[in-house]
Parts: sequence; structure tokens; C-alpha cells
Amino acid sequence: MNYYIASDHAGFALKGRIVFRLGKKYDFFDLGVFTDERVDYPKIAIDISKKVASEKGALGVLVCGTGNGMSIVANKVKGARAAVIYDGFTAKMARQHNNANIACLGARNIAEQVAVALVKDFLE
Ligand code: RB5
Repeated sequence: MNYYIASDHAGFALKGRIVFRLGKKYDFFDLGVFTDERVDYPKIAIDISKKVASEKGALGVLVCGTGNGMSIVANKVKGARAAVIYDGFTAKMARQHNNANIACLGARNIAEQVAVALVKDFLE
């Protein structure tokens, strides 16, 4: 099973922390960005969503400022089911009740420790 992760500039630092903390267990394909230079998030969300949607069982994680922008765009891709996660309940229900294959989270409203736990909940 493949795991994909990507962010915009707002999520860049948190994405790095998630990969650092969970990368041993989940061998993420990190699709960028790789600097905190300002970028437009829609292209990033579309790229990862196409990959996740085209591979059976693949899961994705998208980090932006709030999680909202990434999820709005990701859900335009056929086969992508993106959910904003912001606590343990939404992280688990996204998979169990919504069959989401992409988790979107906000670097500006979720602390690192919590974000790592939410991503773990989602992926498991
Ligand atoms: C970028 O400044 C910010 O708008 C973006 O990361 C995201 O929060 C959009 O939903």
C-alpha cells in the first residue's frame, strides 16, 4: 500500500514533522513542497489526489493552513475522498464512516503532537 503526503507553504514545516515522526512506519512518498516559499495549493492537491485515486488502497495526507482548501480541491478529483481531520474522532471516522482516502489537516490550527496522532489514527 502506498502512502502519499504533500503540503503547501503553510503546511511545509508540519509535513516535515509528520514524515519525521511517522516515516519509519509509513514509507511516505513526499510530493512536496520542499520549501516554505509561497505556492498555490490547488495544483498540489490535484497531483496527490490523482495518485491516490488511481491506486487501489493508497492513502494520502495533505497539509495546508486549515485543511479546508486542500480538501475542497482534492474532492474534485474522481475517486478522491478527502476529509478534514481535526481530532481523534474525525480522523478515525474519516476512514470508518466516510471511506476517505485522503486526510487534510491544518498546520495553523493543530499542534504537531496532535497532528501526528491524528495522521496515525487516520492511516491505521
Ligand atoms: C495559505 O496561506 C492558505 O490559504 C492555505 O494553506 C490553506 O489554509 C487554504 O485552505
